[in-house]
Amino acid sequence: MLSEKMQKALNEQINAELWSAYLYLSMGMNFEAAGYQGIANWYKVQFKEEQDHAMIFMNYLNSRGGRVELVPIAAVDTVWERPIDAFVATLEHERKVTAMINNLYAMAEAEHDYATRDKLNWFVSEQVEEEETAKQYIDKFKLIGENGMGLYMLDQELGARTYSVPAPLASAE
Ligand code: FEO
Repeated sequence: MLSEKMQKALNEQINAELWSAYLYLSMGMNFEAAGYQGIANWYKVQFKEEQDHAMIFMNYLNSRGGRVELVPIAAVDTVWERPIDAFVATLEHERKVTAMINNLYAMAEAEHDYATRDKLNWFVSEQVEEEETAKQYIDKFKLIGENGMGLYMLDQELGARTYSVPAPLASAE
């Protein structure tokens, strides 16, 4: 059985994942409107992944006899002038999410809640990937600066991203 404290923390994580989804959807719409179809695609895939993260936690809460409590999702920014601004904001946000996952992990260990700790392992690895990817794109956008051809090619690259169901959800199907 999950402790009340852990249930509350997991519900806060669910809200944070849904806020992340909302943030990346907003970024996707911003760049779609600005004509960067590839960047828009990349952020729309990111939006789906964040919904999946929330779903993994919701499925887990239910499987442990907890209660999912969906509360309002706070507003997100709506304008990013340059692609690099969005990727910098993405890295900053993902670092905060990593800290939240680490706090959950520490709480699970302190409570000897090894099932929750085990569930969090996938997220620990996922956060490494999330931060690394955002950082790589910041570096690429820095490299090309205002070069139109460079921006066009990077937009094409980001447009090639496809969505796939994450392992914890795929195995639950
Ligand atoms: Fe769900 Fe991007 O962390």
